[in-house]
Amino acid sequence: MRASERLDRLPAYLFAELEKKIRAKKAEGVDVISLGIGDPDQPTPSVVIDALAEAARDPGTHQYPSNRGRPELREAFARFYDRRFGVALDADTEIMPALGAKECIFNLNLAFLDPGTCALAADPGYPVYTGGPLLAGAEAVLMPLLPERGFGPDLDAIAAEDRERARILYLNYPNNPTGAVVPEGLFERAVAFAQEHDVLIVHDASYTETTFDGYVAPSFLETPGAKDVGVEVFSLSKGWNMTGWRAAALVGNAEAVDAYWKLKSNIDSGMFEAVQLATAAALDAGPPEEMTAIYQRRRDAVVDTLREIGVDVAAPRGTIYVWAPVPDGHTSASYCELVLEESGVVVSPGGAFGQSGEGYFRISLTVADERLAEAVERLRSSLGG
Ligand SMILES: Cc1ncc(COP(=O)(O)O)c(C=O)c1O
Repeated sequence: MRASERLDRLPAYLFAELEKKIRAKKAEGVDVISLGIGDPDQPTPSVVIDALAEAARDPGTHQYPSNRGRPELREAFARFYDRRFGVALDADTEIMPALGAKECIFNLNLAFLDPGTCALAADPGYPVYTGGPLLAGAEAVLMPLLPERGFGPDLDAIAAEDRERARILYLNYPNNPTGAVVPEGLFERAVAFAQEHDVLIVHDASYTETTFDGYVAPSFLETPGAKDVGVEVFSLSKGWNMTGWRAAALVGNAEAVDAYWKLKSNIDSGMFEAVQLATAAALDAGPPEEMTAIYQRRRDAVVDTLREIGVDVAAPRGTIYVWAPVPDGHTSASYCELVLEESGVVVSPGGAFGQSGEGYFRISLTVADERLAEAVERLRSSLGG
């Protein structure tokens, strides 16, 4: 058996070594607490579950869905974007359901990239921005996200040759893994860049509904001219505690939405219609409000403790992550191993999100308060001195 060369192009899975060590710790009987993965621990709102149950009882939802999605869902996205962001979307041409942001981002690579072209991808960043282009036979050109630029890419630093062959530019704010919110003027600069270089801007809006301290995250599509050059991937996974449902949409530029539809009609058969109707109910209800307070409380507990043990960390205004520098003398991998060894707590090495993530580690706030409190206590007592 011989798997495709395409698969060989993917980088080594950097969590693999850590996972081996976690398994060994568990085998030793250690009660390991994982703050590694960002998967909300709270349940999906009951209004969504009720809508699913009702829709699933209707045999009219049981057949093949259409990839374009039911009008009820597209109209619910249009209402949500209007209410939440003041962005007007045409439910017929500018919205299409996606089976999660991950599916959508991956498939946009297939829809827009050819060999010899590239996508401009954040470093550190969500791995699909780099793995997707490789699997599409193209390349990912990394844009370092550095603290001195508020974790925004320096578009002026992109080499002339890369600007010319770029077809997609990925942005993601609030940002995973850095927790940064969009730097002032970045969306406007991205629109100008896209106009000049004929690049599709793909803004990953997976965390716009999870923000703190009164900060309200914008949609990229609020930016003048954005819809002419870009799309937004909006996901309900994090904001509504719906990671298992695979509920998202591609919204914005009609030509790009159409290309995505053309591609997907050859790949999958759309979203279960009962899930579409439940997602429409979720959008109309809005994200569960209590989540902001829950994550903000957890963020404060983590940030306070890290500062007490000498880690110089900024409190994020968005996402479900705390992004912190590792102490001097450590790589991100060696520090994560030390934390696991000394306290039985798993945190993610920043280097796993790209080379510019080296020197950082990421803590996810998606574990129950008691477990997080226990993890924080362990960090304080084992690393505090
Ligand atoms: C930045 C970012 N984009 C996309 C995703 C995937 O979202 P979904 O569950 O909608 O596929 C994640 C998940 O962690 C993410 O962090």
